[in-house]
Amino acid sequence: MPQTDHRAVHRKTKIISNRYVDRFWQMIGKQLQHPTGVAGSIVGWLMAIINDEPNRVAIAALELVERDTVLELGFGPGRGLAALSCRVLQGQVYGVDQSALMLAQASRRNRSAIESGQMNLLKGTFCPLPWKVAAFDKILLVNVVYFFGPAGHEMSEIHRVLRPGGRLVVYVTDSSTMKKWPFASPDTHLVFDQRDLRTLLERGGFDAPEVTIHTLHLPFGIRGLLAIAEKSFKPA
Ligand SMILES: C[S@@+](CC[C@H](N)C(=O)[O-])C[C@H]1O[C@@H](n2cnc3c(N)ncnc32)[C@H](O)[C@@H]1O
Repeated sequence: MPQTDHRAVHRKTKIISNRYVDRFWQMIGKQLQHPTGVAGSIVGWLMAIINDEPNRVAIAALELVERDTVLELGFGPGRGLAALSCRVLQGQVYGVDQSALMLAQASRRNRSAIESGQMNLLKGTFCPLPWKVAAFDKILLVNVVYFFGPAGHEMSEIHRVLRPGGRLVVYVTDSSTMKKWPFASPDTHLVFDQRDLRTLLERGGFDAPEVTIHTLHLPFGIRGLLAIAEKSFKPA
């Protein structure tokens, strides 16, 4: 083959293989947003391992007491739920996730808590939430705010269902890390730095002095953000 033809074939092969790689990462991004099918099952099992540390830190920050009623939004494979249910032995754990597959995985993982009536899981979306005003003492969000709508109405719903004096804990991976991850495309993921996360919380109704955001340095050079927000007692 002449040299120029060889180069052209090589270039074309590279373009085609890049396209497949892009599609692969796009598929992973979509699966993280809404796990389905066999790929979703695998993503679910991986999330249970990879998200262990952010869940551990975020759950500790909730400062749960035994009688708390706690809600997790976007529970995924349900490992966070299992940790919550061990800490609120006299309380209740609620969860909502849009993925039927994640509901099934999380329900298997938490069968005894569900059967005893301590845990209630729903398939549904973040907005609107099907609970009354001030229904929860604590609310947990780990790796889910990327999937909020651009207007962030979900945060107002969270603020509505949290009781005055209640605590919200949010973990997100910082935009500086997210921008390096090929699955986190703008088609599926919003990204947040400290300021964006604060804005989301304040627009949702949390008062600035009641919001604290910490930077976390996690394994593999991952930079995370942990927001702790208390709902104030004064009327909105
Ligand atoms: C990246 S996973 C995180 C799962 C879990 N919190 C963890 O730390 O392993 C995001 C989860 O949020 C759910 N989710 C995303 N957008 C949602 C929405 N608008 N309403 C309800 N669930 C949603 C997905 O189905 C998925 O299970």
